[in-house]
Amino acid sequence: MTRPLTERRPIAVHGATGRLGRLIVHELGEDFAGPIGRDGLVPPCELVIDVSSAEGTAALVPRLDGQALLVGTTGDLPMDALTAYAARAPVAIVPNFSAGVPLLIDILEQLAPRLPQGWSIEVVEAHHAHKRDAPSGTAKRLVAATGRPDVPCHSLRAGDTIGEHTVWLAGPGERLELKHVATRREVFAIGAVRHARWLLDQPPGLVRP
Ligand SMILES: NC(=O)c1ccc[n+]([C@@H]2O[C@H](COP(=O)([O-])OP(=O)(O)OC[C@H]3O[C@@H](n4cnc5c(N)ncnc54)[C@H](OP(=O)(O)O)[C@@H]3O)[C@@H](O)[C@H]2O)c1
Repeated sequence: MTRPLTERRPIAVHGATGRLGRLIVHELGEDFAGPIGRDGLVPPCELVIDVSSAEGTAALVPRLDGQALLVGTTGDLPMDALTAYAARAPVAIVPNFSAGVPLLIDILEQLAPRLPQGWSIEVVEAHHAHKRDAPSGTAKRLVAATGRPDVPCHSLRAGDTIGEHTVWLAGPGERLELKHVATRREVFAIGAVRHARWLLDQPPGLVRP
């Protein structure tokens, strides 16, 4: 049954033809307001999910007019423009929409300060051969969670790997490995829609889930 227009919260997708964008469109169902393509035309909507490229995000922001903005794109994002736009609308930058990676971040934030002296931390991430940025946005977020900005990241780009992140916590004669593996790309689409619904109820500003 189609919901009345007043109950609907239409959501547009920038990057709707991409690997992730197509799945998000499917997941949105009747809440999908339409695609935003390279012509930049924005259909009437309350929120835009951006899963394009860093250049795409930079081109999108000046075209928005007060819609909430959920950025799932990773890479060299236009942070000045996003921060300026956040004065007008809620903006969230979420480099990993899965349910598991935030748990991994929580664990790492608790564990890193408790490591014995002399232990080192390294992050290894693997993605499909088409991924453009390295290290991944998630790997950068994991490094931030350790509180050690000099943690090395190692990137593999191989085959059709969806997304894997392993944090090595290594000491003399032993190590811990904390690992997240995305086995289906749909987890990111489901998570994107979950984050979008949350963001619709947030005040203007750069907000973190
Ligand atoms: N947050 C997360 O959980 C998560 C998960 C997976 C991926 N990602 C990120 O999401 C982004 C997209 O990933 P993907 O695998 O779906 O990539 P993809 O398959 O290459 O799709 C990219 C999409 O963005 C569009 N696009 C690219 N550059 C553009 C530009 N300059 N202006 C307008 N549109 C542009 C493409 O349009 P055309 O069809 O016209 O080329 C296409 O629709 C990447 O940054 C990736 O790292 C995030």
